[in-house]
Amino acid sequence: MATPPKVNQSTFDQSTINQSKSDRSQINSSKAGQFIVLEGTEGVGKTTNLKFIEDIIRDQNLDLIVTREPGGTPLAEELREMLLAPRNEKVVENAELLLMFAARAQHFDSKIIPALNSGKWVLCDRFTDATYAYQGGGRGVDKSKIELLENLVQGRVRPDHIIILDVDVEIGLKRAGQRGDLDRFEQENRSFFENVREAYLERATKEPHRYHLINAAQPLKQVQAELLETIKSIIG
Ligand code: TMP
Repeated sequence: MATPPKVNQSTFDQSTINQSKSDRSQINSSKAGQFIVLEGTEGVGKTTNLKFIEDIIRDQNLDLIVTREPGGTPLAEELREMLLAPRNEKVVENAELLLMFAARAQHFDSKIIPALNSGKWVLCDRFTDATYAYQGGGRGVDKSKIELLENLVQGRVRPDHIIILDVDVEIGLKRAGQRGDLDRFEQENRSFFENVREAYLERATKEPHRYHLINAAQPLKQVQAELLETIKSIIG
């Protein structure tokens, strides 16, 4: 079993949140990086805004790695290709779920945790909230199954901050549709993405201290002004 990671342990459970605060106080706070995740449904402008967030953090001379899920390591990127490729065979729910977490396990243990433990900031394009939204909301996978795998793969570690870019599904799908070839998820129908969006919004309202919901239907300038405020508040 992997050694329990030493830093950035925020969880849903209040007693563990308190525990994680005391864990953090044992490390030099100026050295502790934050684990930040950017999420959203299709066509919310994730790529542009990930770069924007990266630039803000780097401008502060903070040591940062930028990574993504599924993916982030050679093995996890191979699993990503398998997961995203359109195919004639129906991918059963458990296979999709387990492949997502297989990629996550590799990425988490070999890249995210070592970075956090060496004091780096981690900016990740999607993480486990995407599983709750896409597999849970979109596919209807039971939340308890996701929680089980989340605990198995991540132990008590949860991202410090999750930024969700939110846009009406119709607008998002129109934007995403302009990109040409659609992957296996992008080929899903509108009701799938309505459920994905709903799952993200539900998670955001349950834990407002960790979730930052940004209205991505606004002009980019306004979206980025809000992102700047959010990142500033995180950097402190
Ligand atoms: P991306 O195109 O935003 O990089 O993400 C790849 C796709 O993978 C996206 O459609 C969402 C999906 N996905 C899941 O279904 N579950 C997950 O846990 C993750 C991380 C991504």
